[in-house]
Amino acid sequence: MDALSRYLDENQDRFVANLGEALRIPSVSAQPEHQQDVKRCAEHLADRLRALGMTRADVVPTSGHPIVYGEWLGAPGKPTALLYGHYDVQPPEPLELWKTPPFEPTVRDGKLFARGAVDDKGQVFMHLNAIEAHMKIHGGLPINLKVVIEGEEEVGSDNLEKFLVERRSELDADVIVVSDTAMLGPDQPALCYALRGILYTEIEVQGPAGDLHSGHYGGAVANPANVLSAMIAALKDGDGRITVPGFYDKVRKVTAADREMYRNLPFDEATYLAAAGPPEPAGEKGYTTLERITVRPTLDVNGIWGGYTGPGAKTVLPGLAHAKVSMRLVPDQDPDEIFERFEAYLHKLAPSSVRARVTNHHTALPFIMDPAHPMLDAARRALARVWSKPPAMVREGGSIPVMTTFQRTHGLPCILMGFGLDDDQVHAPNEKFSLSSYFGGTKSVAFLYEELSRT
Ligand code: BES
Ligand code: MN
Ligand code: MN
Repeated sequence: MDALSRYLDENQDRFVANLGEALRIPSVSAQPEHQQDVKRCAEHLADRLRALGMTRADVVPTSGHPIVYGEWLGAPGKPTALLYGHYDVQPPEPLELWKTPPFEPTVRDGKLFARGAVDDKGQVFMHLNAIEAHMKIHGGLPINLKVVIEGEEEVGSDNLEKFLVERRSELDADVIVVSDTAMLGPDQPALCYALRGILYTEIEVQGPAGDLHSGHYGGAVANPANVLSAMIAALKDGDGRITVPGFYDKVRKVTAADREMYRNLPFDEATYLAAAGPPEPAGEKGYTTLERITVRPTLDVNGIWGGYTGPGAKTVLPGLAHAKVSMRLVPDQDPDEIFERFEAYLHKLAPSSVRARVTNHHTALPFIMDPAHPMLDAARRALARVWSKPPAMVREGGSIPVMTTFQRTHGLPCILMGFGLDDDQVHAPNEKFSLSSYFGGTKSVAFLYEELSRT
């Protein structure tokens, strides 16, 4: 076995410990009370990059959360990769459903449990481990590396584009590398070539000026919670199609060849559905499960509230009702255009007995690249050195807002090589990263740097 592989095998425990330190920092970007923790996490990462031997490691302030920038440019004549990842995490709530606390990383059954274990701190640390191994074994990296790790991915990456555009020439590279997606199974690596976009909105419906006695007023004034429920119900028809006028106008048609390709993917539908555990699957009529989560757009309520939600009963007619509603979008839908259509439609759905307000929290454009791009060959070769099956070329249902910026303003090919699994509980209680994925991913990344040096 070569020295690099041996180093990666022998240091696994420390890789877990190092990741654990970062996982202890509750860098929840959405929650203002964690603002200092987010900053602390950025500083921690910059310290790590410096300790690894990166020649530069800055914490760059933005009008939101800071960006960590690092670089090592000691391989003149070799390609330059720009590694992108995020150190912010989703809120850990509901806390009572965690078996061990979200920010106390714990290993059980070969899996590391913590908020951010796989999304995305663990996948960022695969790269830090790979950097460490190359530095220790070879005294440097096989390629030049620029590192951008942001703290606002989970809230829409509002300040990243400005940073990337302002530093366009400083950030020049030959390829973008991202590990923030999933595999198709524990022994089935994948390379991702498309992500859905998103439009994330909030609806507020106001009925009476304030809460009322539901007996004294019930029946005489509109109940905003009832009205909001009806409005939401009207957003999809019986076939699971979204009813917003013009919503599908720019959706690319799924061709017969596409469908054939999706059918042939090693996607294990039963395992995928079992990880979610519903009584039965549900979705848009006429499409398979895989198509529903990749090539088709969708609309989901992320949260809905209003009136009394505490223990026992309280007879109240609420003054306000709210819902957070997001839409996953596919090429060539434009989130801003869809927002206008959505807002106008909701105002039409709202009866004159209430006032409805719709706000746009954040958007991301759908991303798609050429799955046959030659740059992906380096990733294929790297994965072939670690896994027994060749990578599947997949589209993913989630979103990474910055990807279209890399594509449009930087004009660079992207390697999306991620190692998550369906049952990782991403964004949910008991998020985990399987250690076999963490170590296999670390090795794949270390080899990717080598393979990129041969391009
Ligand atoms: N890592 C995910 C994106 C992802 C999820 C890719 C599943 C592939 C499969 C990322 O951290 C994420 O959660 N993004 C958000 C973006 C949003 C807040 C703008 C998402 O998709 O909800
Ligand atoms: Mn992520
Ligand atoms: Mn995420």
